[in-house]
Amino acid sequence: MNIAIDGPAGAGKSTVAKMVAEQLGYLYIDTGSMYRALAWAAQEHQIEIEDEQAVSELLKNNVIHLKRDSAQQRVYWNDEDITDRIRTPQVSQYASVVASYGAVREQMLVLQRQLAQVGNVVMDGRDIGTHVLPDAEVKIFLTASIRERAERRLKELQQKGHQTDLAELEAEIAQRDKRDMEREVAPLRQAEDAVLLDTTGMTIPQVVDRILQICKRSGE
Ligand code: CDP
Ligand code: CDP
Repeated sequence: MNIAIDGPAGAGKSTVAKMVAEQLGYLYIDTGSMYRALAWAAQEHQIEIEDEQAVSELLKNNVIHLKRDSAQQRVYWNDEDITDRIRTPQVSQYASVVASYGAVREQMLVLQRQLAQVGNVVMDGRDIGTHVLPDAEVKIFLTASIRERAERRLKELQQKGHQTDLAELEAEIAQRDKRDMEREVAPLRQAEDAVLLDTTGMTIPQVVDRILQICKRSGE
């Protein structure tokens, strides 16, 4: 069985996808980290982020690897472990810019389907249920109010010792969601056969339990 989890920024996709995968003994694949890796590399190599061809060439000429290190997924750009460098606000915004390029998405689609070939995967992103794994047995569209998503991110950043403003975070998330929903290629949207899960006011264990119930029902 494959499980696809899509939704907007801060909905809790990676947190709950990882836990669901652990509970089921499945492989967790974070596709957002691949767009983040490319965005990071464009920034690192001072490639103009608006230059679709240059960004697409950069992806073509390099390798993004996802490696599993005990519970964590680590992201490599060629031989360089960049896992701890791809979560900055700048990389988040750049990731959604490079993700709007058709030539980039085409390459990512091939890589992501290859990664899922082993089967029994929990994959999260924006277009998993609609494009990458249209035949996934379970599809979840995870969301929450924008205020709550921004509050969750704020808490996370504060715990890491960063000072950020809630209104600023909310604006940044709204801008990224808009870009993800309005792009022409594989925009963020709920697949017709996905279960909508609004997690506003729900704790992480509650969301995980709900998804496990949905998986159980689908396997019966
Ligand atoms: O991957 P995505 O951007 O959808 O979200 P995430 O990074 O998994 O979650 C964003 C933050 O919200 C994390 O700090 C989670 O611990 C937190 N979270 C929460 O407080 N309640 C939930 N029901 C889900 C996530
Ligand atoms: O964790 P968060 O939800 O903030 O972001 P992410 O899942 O790491 O994704 C970063 C960006 O990559 C998103 O804003 C999308 O533009 C893009 N993305 C995508 O277009 N398709 C995917 N399957 C995954 C991510």
